Amino acid sequence: MVPAWLLLLFLSVAQVFAKVQSAELYVEVPENYGGNFPLYLIKLPLPPEETEGEIVLSGTHDMAAEGPFAVDPESGFLLVTRALDREEQAEYRLKVTLETEDGRVLWGPQPVLVRVKDENDQVPHFSQFIYRVQLSQGTRPGIPFLFLEASDKDEPGTANSDLRFYILNQAPAQPSRDMFQLEPRLGALALSPEGSTSLDQAAEGPYQLLVQVKDMGDQASGHQATATIDVSIVENTWVPLDPIHLAENLKVPYPHHIAQVHWSGRDVRYHLESQPPGPFDVDAEGTLHVTGELDREAQAEYLLQVQAQNTRGEDYTEPLELRVVVADENDNAPVCPLRDSPVSIPELSPPGTEVTRLSAEDMDAPGSPNSHIVYQLLSPEPEEGADGRAFELDFTSGSVTLGDAPLRAAQNILLRVMAADRGGAEGSLSSTCEVAVTITDINDHAPEFTVSQIEPVSLPEDAEPGTLVATLMATDADLEPAFRLMDFAIEAGDVEGTFGLDWEPDSSHVELRLLKNLSYEAASSHKLVVVVRSVAELVGPGPGPGATATVTVLVEKLVPPPKLDQESYEASVPVSTPAGSLLLTIQPSDPISSPLRFSLVNDSEGWLCIKEVSGEVHIARPLQGAQPGDMYTVLVEARYEDEPTLSTSATLVIRFLKAPSAWAPTLNPVPTRHLCTPRQDHGVVISGPGEDPDLAGGHGPYSFALGPNPTVRRDWHLQALNGSHAYLTLALHWVEPREHIVPVVVSHDAQTWQLLIRVIVCRCNMEGQCMRKVGRMKGMPTKLSAVGILVGTLMAIGIFLIFIFTHLTLARKKDLDQPVESVPLKAAV
Ligand SMILES: *[C@@H]1O[C@H](CO)[C@@H](O)[C@H](O)[C@H]1NC(C)=O
Ligand SMILES: *[C@@H]1O[C@H](CO)[C@@H](O)[C@H](O)[C@H]1NC(C)=O
Ligand SMILES: *[C@@H]1O[C@H](CO)[C@@H](O)[C@H](O)[C@H]1NC(C)=O
Repeated sequence: MVPAWLLLLFLSVAQVFAKVQSAELYVEVPENYGGNFPLYLIKLPLPPEETEGEIVLSGTHDMAAEGPFAVDPESGFLLVTRALDREEQAEYRLKVTLETEDGRVLWGPQPVLVRVKDENDQVPHFSQFIYRVQLSQGTRPGIPFLFLEASDKDEPGTANSDLRFYILNQAPAQPSRDMFQLEPRLGALALSPEGSTSLDQAAEGPYQLLVQVKDMGDQASGHQATATIDVSIVENTWVPLDPIHLAENLKVPYPHHIAQVHWSGRDVRYHLESQPPGPFDVDAEGTLHVTGELDREAQAEYLLQVQAQNTRGEDYTEPLELRVVVADENDNAPVCPLRDSPVSIPELSPPGTEVTRLSAEDMDAPGSPNSHIVYQLLSPEPEEGADGRAFELDFTSGSVTLGDAPLRAAQNILLRVMAADRGGAEGSLSSTCEVAVTITDINDHAPEFTVSQIEPVSLPEDAEPGTLVATLMATDADLEPAFRLMDFAIEAGDVEGTFGLDWEPDSSHVELRLLKNLSYEAASSHKLVVVVRSVAELVGPGPGPGATATVTVLVEKLVPPPKLDQESYEASVPVSTPAGSLLLTIQPSDPISSPLRFSLVNDSEGWLCIKEVSGEVHIARPLQGAQPGDMYTVLVEARYEDEPTLSTSATLVIRFLKAPSAWAPTLNPVPTRHLCTPRQDHGVVISGPGEDPDLAGGHGPYSFALGPNPTVRRDWHLQALNGSHAYLTLALHWVEPREHIVPVVVSHDAQTWQLLIRVIVCRCNMEGQCMRKVGRMKGMPTKLSAVGILVGTLMAIGIFLIFIFTHLTLARKKDLDQPVESVPLKAAV
């Protein structure tokens, strides 16, 4: 028997699933079915042609047998044989096959899912009959401190198991009837706002709550159960904490206990937050730890917030704040900031000038000894023998100032300063700061001339403008090129602007040049004062005397060359004119001009001589060789006595005339010779006595020797030329110029003669001619007296010699002034 609704159900489902043999068939069976059994569930889509096989029903999985299910072989319906309990088993998975006797599968397997449809046949249950809970004062309203648990075995997700919680009663109902609130769906018990307020004012309680749980959701009907909650009120132990001081770099085992918090309610979870994040945590007991070493320099202070939370992570109350202060340790040395450029200090800065201020930084706690820095100057050390230090250091401020010892420009100094913390006391850390200092040059040296008094400079009056007068050199002891630039000026002595200065901008020498014509009449000398100055502004004392140089310029007067009264001179002389005759006198054109000195330039024949001062021209020697009608031209030169460079010349033309017929030979019979002193290469040829044609008898060879007088032997030298002649020369370089009688001993065949040779020693002119001064010498014989002396001497020798002397005198026809070499001496014995 099949109920009508079941058939309808069958038709609808079977139509869907019959088409696909293997598709799972699904059917629901009401739980606790109260009707007749077997209950036909679903017609299986068996093949109509197969009639022989046996239908086999089997369970799947753990279900070994088919249980309360069977298949009606005739109708092909799946049926259930008894009432099913969903709470026992909610669904069944079946397989239907058509098999032969030997187990061959003819059809299937056909899976079938049977679900048991739930009925609200279960009552909800609290997890406990009595809940005991501590509630701390200070718990915020609405924050659940207890979660009620209840269960209902009906199918989850349906109204049959949809539970609601309610407070049925609160005892005591003081101070308010609604001290608590219970969240109906979750069973979360919390203080109501009124409850929170009254609890904070006074500790009440304990409270007992009767609570209910019921199913069917918000429907009025449903199964229900009750339980009791005992709520005891406890004091709030969530008290503020004092700040904690923790040493940095603390060497202890970690985690290290630092504080304890406690929330006295139940089901508390502690949660810690660190601001900024730090190595802190809190465990389930509310113990706070630091989990690693702290570094004050990285973070000096932390603010920890500890929260007491319920199981849902909601704060029971305000978080507790805990300030953690990291105590400093001297673990940082002072550090000097790096400088990229040296400090520049101008030279000559006064002592006390601040060079730099060291500002070492210490990362340790500011204001503590660990960051109290003091300084000590390590270098430069004071130089040996110096009065003081070049630098002074204030040990507290780190200010470096200049000391008493002077510094030179362009010096580079490396200051090394030790910076130590803890005021330099024990346990201090230190480092060395370096500061490069450069002493810059200032223009403190004035340029100076290397020579301030220049030798007087002579300039001819006609010196052309532009002529270089003098070059002055200056030096500047400064180092900076810009400070060495010089400016020159003529400060005094040049009102007319006759002189000018010329220099290259970066040069240290200046040229003094003439700019205008000089005039001896206007100024015969100029005393010029030249100054040199630094182009850049000078620092310190002004220029000294070295910045001035004095140049004296002497103007040379322009003297015209001497002028003679005639441009050329002429004279006519007979060829027989004797030596010493005056020809003419050469005179300056202006008798009052400065005195002149005259000379003959090219008197190659030596016929003439001129008086140097008076300009008288005389015949110097007999005009031998001059032919009447010839002309002889010589050049006469005249110079200023005091200005020998200025000269003029004129020609002197001599015309030779025939000798007048009545010519009386000048008696000049005395043989005389001259030799020059200082010695020239002349000598006197002496002939032996045999040469005289009047002398009968013996002819050479003769031998010649000087007389025995040592003075004679010292002064003279005699050399035999051949058997009849000898050559007499000066032995000394200098023999007194005067007349000398030289005794010469001539011997031949045991015969001996003594010759007395008269020689005049005189100063000579260039041509080897005796200068006339000899004639004026006191005691010097004239030609006539010389003859007398010789005659006297010869007479004194003896009668024998007189005879020979007569011959000698008569034979003297040749001029004794003739050059000696060319005239052989005829001496008589
Ligand atoms: C300077 O002297 C030269 C030659 O002596 C002359 O030619 C020129 O005119 C003179 N200049 C002045 C300005 O007197
Ligand atoms: C001397 O010099 C003048 C001028 O040069 C010349 O005419 C004359 O012939 C010279 N006299 C002798 C002797 O050389
Ligand atoms: C000896 O020398 C003189 C001068 O040189 C000369 O005149 C003379 O003839 C010479 N006599 C003999 C014999 O050679």
